[in-house]
Amino acid sequence: MDEATHTSDNAAALTRAAVMAREQELARVSRDLHDGLGQLITATLLDLAVVEKHIGVLPTEVVAALERAVQAVDASAHELRWICRGLGSAQVAQLGLKRAAESLLQDHAERTGTRVHFEMDADEEFLDDHAALCIFRVLQESLGNISRHACASCVDVGIRCCEKELVLSVSDNGSGFDPGNVGEHGSGIAGMRERASLVGGQLEVVSINSGVDHGTKVLLRIPIVSRCGGEDGSEGGGHTS
Ligand SMILES: Nc1ncnc2c1ncn2[C@@H]1O[C@H](COP(=O)(O)OP(=O)(O)OP(=O)(O)O)[C@@H](O)[C@H]1O
Ligand SMILES: [Mg+2]
Repeated sequence: MDEATHTSDNAAALTRAAVMAREQELARVSRDLHDGLGQLITATLLDLAVVEKHIGVLPTEVVAALERAVQAVDASAHELRWICRGLGSAQVAQLGLKRAAESLLQDHAERTGTRVHFEMDADEEFLDDHAALCIFRVLQESLGNISRHACASCVDVGIRCCEKELVLSVSDNGSGFDPGNVGEHGSGIAGMRERASLVGGQLEVVSINSGVDHGTKVLLRIPIVSRCGGEDGSEGGGHTS
């Protein structure tokens, strides 16, 4: 192995280690939030339920304030669950990519009122942990961008096996933007590209911001070594290159 190859292998290993360390830290924060703050919110809701039982003896303005407090604490519990799900890569490991993606999309639809269509036509056994997490994080950032920037009414998500690639596509019918002109805006798209390259993949963002068919499409392609479904009936090794 020549020196240049050795150096670039070392750099790739270091970047991968940094990404994994970050994932572990996010998982820890998610657990702490869930077990600490989550339990406090649950306890507060239980106490408020006791107060609500005696609501008949309270003045009207106190009843109204109490109802607002119950709604706010309830909303906080919902928000916290959403944050924990978003932080934790454990969700992908526990549920598998398909169910983790479904849960993310259901949250997105509930929060934004957007119509969401999801299809997964790829066997999870062809995905290693790094590739599954990469797809989940790219989907997460794409949905975050749609809710923050796109004003879309529809989102179409597909995870498919095409030839020797796994392809994630996330399309919205929102405002669109000029990908060549985002300048110093944010680091989400750059982060998605970096994640894609770490698993040997590529990320493409196609967007139209004028005319009738405006919207944005994020395409992530990850190569797989063995053929999906094995036309020759052989079993796949499931490694990403
Ligand atoms: N689906 C989308 N619809 C419309 N505009 C988008 C969409 N996705 C990205 N953009 C535009 O591209 C810019 C860059 O996106 P990027 O994710 O890199 O950064 P950000 O979302 O602004 O910030 P960050 O992700 O770092 O919190 C956004 O500021 C927005 O103008
Ligand atoms: Mg973003």
